[in-house]
Amino acid sequence: MRLAVLASGYGSNLQAIIDAIEREEIAGQVQVVISDVEDAYALERAKKHGIENLYINPREYKDREAFDRVIVALLLERQIELVVLAGFMRLLSPFFVRKFRGKIINIHPSLLPAFPGLNGVQKALSYGVRVSGVTVHFVDEGLDTGPIILQDSVPVLDDDTEHTLHERIHRVEHRLYPRAIQLFIEQKLRLEGRRCIHIEG
Ligand code: GAR
Repeated sequence: MRLAVLASGYGSNLQAIIDAIEREEIAGQVQVVISDVEDAYALERAKKHGIENLYINPREYKDREAFDRVIVALLLERQIELVVLAGFMRLLSPFFVRKFRGKIINIHPSLLPAFPGLNGVQKALSYGVRVSGVTVHFVDEGLDTGPIILQDSVPVLDDDTEHTLHERIHRVEHRLYPRAIQLFIEQKLRLEGRRCIHIEG
């Protein structure tokens, strides 16, 4: 399957996906990595693996949809079948979601619907939850509101800082995201309203 990864930052989830592909745990290829941040380390990771990597500067476009139209055109040109958001820190426009409905997934560092949006790890820590976690979900027009594909919990420890908690969360993300991508590729996900049912076998 032809995958595209959109990332704004460090790209450790991108790396986990590339590694899982190399271990043949994901039956797909990352065709392109796109970032809205020029010096995102994710672009560097793509380069190292010989994957096409593109920086698109959001400031060159008048609004979110104009920016998204450029990305959508790039994805269509490359016949992308699944769009993977991996630390992509922008809300997609309804235009983008419509064009790839049911074919965009995101990873979020909390147990949604708790702590959506930016700084999910910090919000969970400040709130004082004893358990947080990771959510992989389909993307709809809302902010982290789409049907949930996989979740796993992560304990919050008394001496956690945002950094230590995020590290623990990252380890779970790197296991969960490749699994979710492979479930999608194997067509083992079926939507019943908001619920995403996993088809056995
Ligand atoms: C991940 O923890 C991901 O869940 C989070 O950004 C981090 C990116 O890490 N995403 C969000 O907060 C989206 N709202 P990475 O660049 O090392 O993959």
